[in-house]
Amino acid sequence: MSKAVRIERHGGPQEMRVVDVQVGEPGPGEVRIRHYAVGLNFIDVYQRTGLYPFPMPLQLGMEGAGVIEAVGEGVTHLRAGDRAAYASNPPGAYCEVRVMPAQCVCRLPDAISFETGAAMMLKGLTAQYLLKKARPVEGLEPGDHVLFHAAAGGVGLIACQWARALGLRLIGTAGSDAKCQLALDNGAAHAINYAREDFAARVKEITGGKGVKVVYDSVGKDTWDQSLDCLRPFGLMASFGNASGPVPPFAPGLLGAKGSLYVTRQTLFSHIATREATQAMADDLFAVVAGGQVNIRIAQRYPLAEVQQAHRDLEARKTTGSTILTP
Ligand SMILES: NC(=O)c1ccc[n+]([C@@H]2O[C@H](COP(=O)([O-])OP(=O)(O)OC[C@H]3O[C@@H](n4cnc5c(N)ncnc54)[C@H](OP(=O)(O)O)[C@@H]3O)[C@@H](O)[C@H]2O)c1
Repeated sequence: MSKAVRIERHGGPQEMRVVDVQVGEPGPGEVRIRHYAVGLNFIDVYQRTGLYPFPMPLQLGMEGAGVIEAVGEGVTHLRAGDRAAYASNPPGAYCEVRVMPAQCVCRLPDAISFETGAAMMLKGLTAQYLLKKARPVEGLEPGDHVLFHAAAGGVGLIACQWARALGLRLIGTAGSDAKCQLALDNGAAHAINYAREDFAARVKEITGGKGVKVVYDSVGKDTWDQSLDCLRPFGLMASFGNASGPVPPFAPGLLGAKGSLYVTRQTLFSHIATREATQAMADDLFAVVAGGQVNIRIAQRYPLAEVQQAHRDLEARKTTGSTILTP
C-alpha cells in the first residue's frame, strides 16, 4: 500500500485528497520506485484544473527521486537498490511508492541528493532543451541576449545559471524586486520587474534597440503580445507554458509584420520520448549540477499531506526556485 494524492474531478486545490492505493509488481518495461522526495511543477496545476485534461481518477505528479525496489522484464538500465530520479508521463509521482514505465527513470549520481534529484529533473531537462535544442535559425553565440520570463521560478533559476554557463546574456523577468534580485544572484545579466515596468521597452533599451534572439515564455496570455515586440528580425518565440492562461489564437501575418519571426511551442515530453534521448539530456543536466555550474535551489518543502497548500502557494506566485513534497 502507498499514500497517494488523487483527484476524482478537475478543480481547485481542495480536490486533492490523500488516499491509500494498492501498489503491485512491475510489469514488462516497468519499475517500482520508493520516493524519498517528489517535485512540484506548474504542469501539476494544469492537470489538476483540467487545462490539460486526463481521465479520472488521476494520481498527480510528474517528477520524483528515490530507490528502485523492483524491475520488470526487459529493464536493463536499472536494478533493485539503485538510486534513481525521473521526469515522466504518466502522472502519479505524488505518492510514497509507485509502479511506472522505466524509460524515463535515470540512475541518480551519488553526488546528487534525492531532494535535488526530485527538484531538478522536470525543470532541469526543460531548461536543457530550451537552451540547447529550441534554437533560433541564426544560432545562439556567447554574448547573445535572450529573454526568459518568470526567471525566479523553478525552471527560471536553473535557466539563469545554465545560460550564464553558456555565455548567454539572459534578461530575466519576475513579479517583484526580490525575485528580480534572486534572478540576478543566479546568473541573469539583467532583471526586469514586469509587474511595474514595460518589459518590451526595457529589453529594447538593454539591447541598444536590437531586441533579443529568443524569448522563452512560460507565462502565456499576459506576456505574449509584448514578447513578440522584444524579438529582433528572424528571432524565435519559444512558448512553453501558460501560467497566466493559454495564449489566444493569433494571425500568422503578425509574425511577418514584426520581423519575420519564428514561433515554436514545445514540450519536454517530445524530447524525452526515447530512453537514449532521456539519458543524454539527463547526463548533460547531471554534469552541470555535479560540476557546480547549476545549483538547484529548493526554496519550499511541504509534507505530501500538505499538497493543497503547496498548490495554493505556487498558483499565488509565492514560491521561488524549486519546491519538493516529502512523502
Ligand atoms: N513545455 C514544457 O516542456 C514545460 C516544462 C516544464 C515547465 N513548463 C512551464 O514552465 C513554467 C514554469 O514552471 P515551474 O514549475 O518552474 O513554475 P514556476 O516558474 O516556479 O512558477 C510559475 C511562475 O510564473 C509566474 N507567473 C506569471 N503570471 C502568473 C500567474 N497569473 N499565475 C501564476 N504564476 C504566474 C510567477 O512568477 P512571477 O511572480 O515572477 O511572475 C510564478 O512564480 C510553467 O508555465 C510550466 O508549465 C513547461
